[in-house]
Amino acid sequence: MSRGAMTARKSTVTLHMVSSLDGIIAKKDNSVSWLDDSGDVYEKGVSDDSEEDVVKAIDCFVLGSRTYEHALQLGWPYGDTPTVVITNRELPSTRKSVEFYSGDLKRLVDEILAPRYGNIWLVGGAMLCQSFLRLGLVDEIRLSIIPVLLGDGLRLFDNSSTEKRWRLKNVIAFKSGVVELSYGLPIH
Ligand SMILES: NC(=O)c1ccc[n+]([C@@H]2O[C@H](COP(=O)([O-])OP(=O)(O)OC[C@H]3O[C@@H](n4cnc5c(N)ncnc54)[C@H](OP(=O)(O)O)[C@@H]3O)[C@@H](O)[C@H]2O)c1
Repeated sequence: MSRGAMTARKSTVTLHMVSSLDGIIAKKDNSVSWLDDSGDVYEKGVSDDSEEDVVKAIDCFVLGSRTYEHALQLGWPYGDTPTVVITNRELPSTRKSVEFYSGDLKRLVDEILAPRYGNIWLVGGAMLCQSFLRLGLVDEIRLSIIPVLLGDGLRLFDNSSTEKRWRLKNVIAFKSGVVELSYGLPIH
């Protein structure tokens, strides 16, 4: 049974992260050139434009405060889509679409987000994603794997949870060599 069915809510929480082949989502120096397209083309892949509709369908982003601060430095990637930043600090408000939240994450999802949004995307960082996984608040895991080994950095799945099986829902290979893997909760 899906988490949505268990809680009688129709909303879905999708954890989406971009990872290296060795499971790293950020380098120690926070540099992001490893995310750039290498220029190599995987001929059998689909074009990256095919993701535009997926992004348009997102109702709400959820992120940790360190990801928020890094996104402000790099250039805001979340447009005007409502965004909830999890923090215990008093952070300055930067955009109308951003709200801050501190407290119980299950309450955030079930009582605040689910009644307002259907398609909720949890987009990092590692610390917040691990908290969501430990609490069983993730319905779908969507990983975009960049063909690079980084060796060292922030690992997405350190300390995230106990053993748990996921069900492969979809695989998309892009011309850029990025592979997107989507997993849902087991049906049985
Ligand atoms: N490759 C990717 O797809 C991707 C995606 C997102 C981020 N990143 C990178 O990942 C790095 C940031 O990740 P991170 O793991 O260090 O930090 P993070 O998860 O973005 O943020 C951690 C902060 O979020 C708040 N927080 C997290 N869990 C909480 C909880 N359960 N309750 C209350 N507050 C909580 C705390 O904020 P306060 O300290 O303010 O209280 C905590 O310090 C950055 O380099 C970013 O660029 C990569």
